[in-house]
Amino acid sequence: MMVGLTLLLTGVLLSGILLHKANQNEACVSTPAERPNFIIILADDIGWGDLGANQLRQRANNTPNLDLLALQGMRLTDFHSPASTCSPSRAAILTARYGVRNGVTHNFAINSVAGLPLSEVALPWLLQESGYYTAMIGKWHLGHCGPYGPTSRGFDYYLGIPYSNDMGCTDVPGYDLPPSQPCSAGPQGEPRYCLLHEAVYCRVGLPLLENRSIVQQPLDLWTLTLRYRDAALRIIHTAKQRKQPYLLYVAMAHMHVPLAPPPASPSTNVMDGGLDVYAPSLREMDDLVGALKRASDETDRDNTLIWFTGDNGPWEKKCQYAGSVGPYTGMWQTSRGGGSAKQTTWEGGHRVPTVAYWPSRIPANTSSNALLSGMDIFPTLLSMAGLKPPGDRRYDGIDATDILLNGGHTGHEFLFHPNSGAAGQFGDLQTVRAGKHKAFYITGAAEACGGDRGTQQLHDPPLIFDLGVDQAEAMPLDAGMPDYQEVLGKVTKAREELLWDIATDQSVSVADYTRDQTAAPCCDPQRTSCRCPGLT
Ligand SMILES: *[C@@H]1O[C@H](CO)[C@@H](O)[C@H](O)[C@H]1NC(C)=O
Ligand SMILES: *[C@@H]1O[C@H](CO)[C@@H](O)[C@H](O)[C@H]1NC(C)=O
Repeated sequence: MMVGLTLLLTGVLLSGILLHKANQNEACVSTPAERPNFIIILADDIGWGDLGANQLRQRANNTPNLDLLALQGMRLTDFHSPASTCSPSRAAILTARYGVRNGVTHNFAINSVAGLPLSEVALPWLLQESGYYTAMIGKWHLGHCGPYGPTSRGFDYYLGIPYSNDMGCTDVPGYDLPPSQPCSAGPQGEPRYCLLHEAVYCRVGLPLLENRSIVQQPLDLWTLTLRYRDAALRIIHTAKQRKQPYLLYVAMAHMHVPLAPPPASPSTNVMDGGLDVYAPSLREMDDLVGALKRASDETDRDNTLIWFTGDNGPWEKKCQYAGSVGPYTGMWQTSRGGGSAKQTTWEGGHRVPTVAYWPSRIPANTSSNALLSGMDIFPTLLSMAGLKPPGDRRYDGIDATDILLNGGHTGHEFLFHPNSGAAGQFGDLQTVRAGKHKAFYITGAAEACGGDRGTQQLHDPPLIFDLGVDQAEAMPLDAGMPDYQEVLGKVTKAREELLWDIATDQSVSVADYTRDQTAAPCCDPQRTSCRCPGLT
């Protein structure tokens, strides 16, 4: 791709000076404070329609703090997670590369021995090397063993869970369908992650890690938000003392099941014959975002970028515990069966609510419909920090600084959505955005609420939708029409170019997805349910 090659060439020239450790004399440079702080907030399984500001007619406003962020910042309305499942999306955000380059094409498991390939260079590492303080709070899901954990990939500090909050038993299950596996259960009916385990390992509750140590197991989901908030606020408030700009990456447990809204929430009410759990959970997430914003506003308001986005769309099969896709309903698919959100390349799978806020720099109360991706966070942050990405590899993300700060409109000319479970090979780039058009060479559905899975179909020539008039992806263009032919010509060429670019990329990594029961993080394997001593 043009952008990748440009970065490559620029990077080759500069690579000699890029990878130096931060110069110890840097404190003597007159303008160190001008490098901005970055707070990246990633929600889990959130829907485009969950953001109040994204809804034309607001039914209920469950995101007042995010709406304020949008009112004082910029809403990015055509922003996409780089994949529609967890590990691939997070890997692409931190490397600015599609899964077929960085190696992460599907999720890691509790007992995965490895993670994001060590040959990949992660954003926090580059910022750390240049003198940033880097901290991560929340879900990592890029490998938890040895050199794969967050503190080995460029984070000075880490507090969080190594993978999704449904990957392990809990004593008191939150709201999930089917319900989370209780830790007291016997070997029958163990969760699917336990297939390779001894019974004792099946009872591993989810651990909470600080740096490299397990500090709690099983995890208390009900106090997790508070712990995350306390740790994040401490990092923001102590930034001035450290005299370093910082990267704070907060990958929230919200809105992934099991949901665990505050137990005494006065707003929890009975709706449609069932407990309304999603809305109070969304409000709790929004409260956390609000707390981060206020702390940042109080400390270094004009020098801090806050960028909120999601890792993929709602997990539709979780029924009332899944978020809203808004108008992006994927009707071509749903009318033929199956779900069209998380794990699919339908809009509901990867168009995520996104807001960028930087009071002195990003114009308030604005929105941009530039075609952007979570992969763009990496080059954009580096650019804002005055850094260049290493020139020994190719990138798929683009620098969005001009859009955020200067009223620019130029996003991706083409953006590919990898298959993340619904159709074809993991990672295959068979769905292409070209402007407002979107071409599918393969379609597939995720499991819908009720269990319907739909079927996979190949399309040659591809199905092409015009999102400008058809947000629901209901009616593909007639293949005989001239505009179909024009888009087909463009996407065919773009695909060939990308595949060639990847085929000739010397820096492609391969992830090791080997599993081994000893890889499951466990406080004390001698104790039932892997409990930490003193936490029985
Ligand atoms: C985590 O690691 C950082 C960096 O090595 C260190 O400063 C901090 O004290 C550690 N925190 C804990 C709780 O171990
Ligand atoms: C924000 O922008 C909208 C749409 O342009 C406008 O209607 C609204 O009045 C603005 N709000 C503020 C507080 O400026």
